[in-house]
Amino acid sequence: MSEEFIRLEKIKKEFTGVKALKGVDLKINCGEIHCLAGENGCGKSTLIKVISGAHEPTSGTIYINGEKVSHLNPIASIHKGIQVIYQDFAVFPNLSVAENIAMNNNLLNAKKKMNWKEAKQLAYKAMALVGAEIDPDVLVERLSISNKQMVAISRAIINDAKLLILDEPTTALTAREVDLLNKTLINLKEKGMAIVIVNHKLDEIFEIADRLTILRNGENVATGLIEEFDRKKFIHYMTGREIIDSVYTPNLEKSEILKINELTLDGYFKNVSFSLNKGDVLGITGLLGSGRSEIGDTLFGITPASSGEIILNNKPITIKSISDAVNQGIGYVPEDRLTQGLFLTRSISDNTVAASLKEYMIKGKLDLQKIEEVTNFWIKKIGCVASSSKAAIRTLSGGNAQKMVIAKWLNTNPQLLILNGPTVGVDVGSKSDIHEILHNLAKEGMGIIIISDDLNELYYNCNKIIIMSNGISSGLLNTADYSEDEISKKIKEAATEENNE
Ligand SMILES: Nc1ncnc2c1ncn2[C@@H]1O[C@H](COP(=O)(O)OP(=O)(O)O)[C@@H](O)[C@H]1O
Ligand SMILES: [Mg+2]
Repeated sequence: MSEEFIRLEKIKKEFTGVKALKGVDLKINCGEIHCLAGENGCGKSTLIKVISGAHEPTSGTIYINGEKVSHLNPIASIHKGIQVIYQDFAVFPNLSVAENIAMNNNLLNAKKKMNWKEAKQLAYKAMALVGAEIDPDVLVERLSISNKQMVAISRAIINDAKLLILDEPTTALTAREVDLLNKTLINLKEKGMAIVIVNHKLDEIFEIADRLTILRNGENVATGLIEEFDRKKFIHYMTGREIIDSVYTPNLEKSEILKINELTLDGYFKNVSFSLNKGDVLGITGLLGSGRSEIGDTLFGITPASSGEIILNNKPITIKSISDAVNQGIGYVPEDRLTQGLFLTRSISDNTVAASLKEYMIKGKLDLQKIEEVTNFWIKKIGCVASSSKAAIRTLSGGNAQKMVIAKWLNTNPQLLILNGPTVGVDVGSKSDIHEILHNLAKEGMGIIIISDDLNELYYNCNKIIIMSNGISSGLLNTADYSEDEISKKIKEAATEENNE
């Protein structure tokens, strides 16, 4: 149907000791949005760099417009109409929008001096094509991330781009900005441009892709029209594992870990009551501002309750501060792990013991060997992929970083662990690892509460769900009594009520 732009055949790329690509076939058509997915390290960036001419493949053939090309280099690739937008956009913060957009053009035409009028005209023209309305005179450093991206796309397309490749373009965007980007990309596609998006967020892929290719371990394990995939298939190809989509069912013991009576935080939630038994995984959901996160904050002493009762393992407790909560055996994986959950520049081991430091002091000194041992224990137990316990947290992928936040709290041996958005920004493989870890902890008797707006996560992983709306709890719903659609409907109804207030 549609015309082929580029075709890769049996592409192999080896770095010393690493086979990053093991004979990948890939075909990208004009006028399609092709998503490239796969877990961290599967070879996505390497493949893009082969297409952009940044890496010479070890073997294999590349055809562009049906013609075989050998020794593609970055300049040749640009001349063929291939443009890549990397995650940092490579925009120049201290230059204006117009200068940034005209940049490539000037380089290509080997112009030494910038013609201001021309640059501005070019900028307007490019921005009209992508549907952006940004002042061409403003410095790029003053723009939002989304607008910086629009500048990068404008710059990429002005030179008659035939193929636009975006490496994880949505990671730092809000939902509205993602919509805007999607509109822009669909518009470009309709003009005949081929678009490749590296993404592993399932929902976003299903929203925009025409075709999907999934890499695993340097191999193309699936390519097809998006209609040929569903969630289960997608995750299966990504991870190589069978994902069982069945509702979590605890081994019912019916002994109560936590009981909340009429808990209230003035202005946020009112008279929330529920109980949590051994084995239960409780999900709390609702819109942002519905009180869902505040319940977690209150149980952890960040915002102490105005009134109500908290009973932990049959003992009424008072939580007025975070240290009260920690002393009572409550752990909290916060919503924003990057700013609240972790010391990014510190090592994995520093982070692992951060919430339980006292236990590693002997005579005023830290027992470094014990810290090392316990860190390695958790890295293994929780399946964190890291080069060593000394690696800085910021070098880990999102999923592995999140596993270490969980490990940090597990190391305090909590009775109750509350997780707010535990798998936001986490790849699907780590996501199912994390869910499995939580199920095992629940089965071993730890109280687990997941606060989330990811319906799928809640439905399959929590045997009880509370929907918050305007600070009022729906009461406990027994997940198994409902279908996923029914829960989704209830959440939507709660949201509508909220908007009508
Ligand atoms: N320049 C390089 N030198 C050595 N190994 C590399 C290099 N670039 C990538 N790799 C390795 O190749 C594999 C694929 O990496 P990459 O293409 O970056 O994966 P992805 O983008 O899917 O996360 C990884 O094992 C990575 O460590
Ligand atoms: Mg990459």
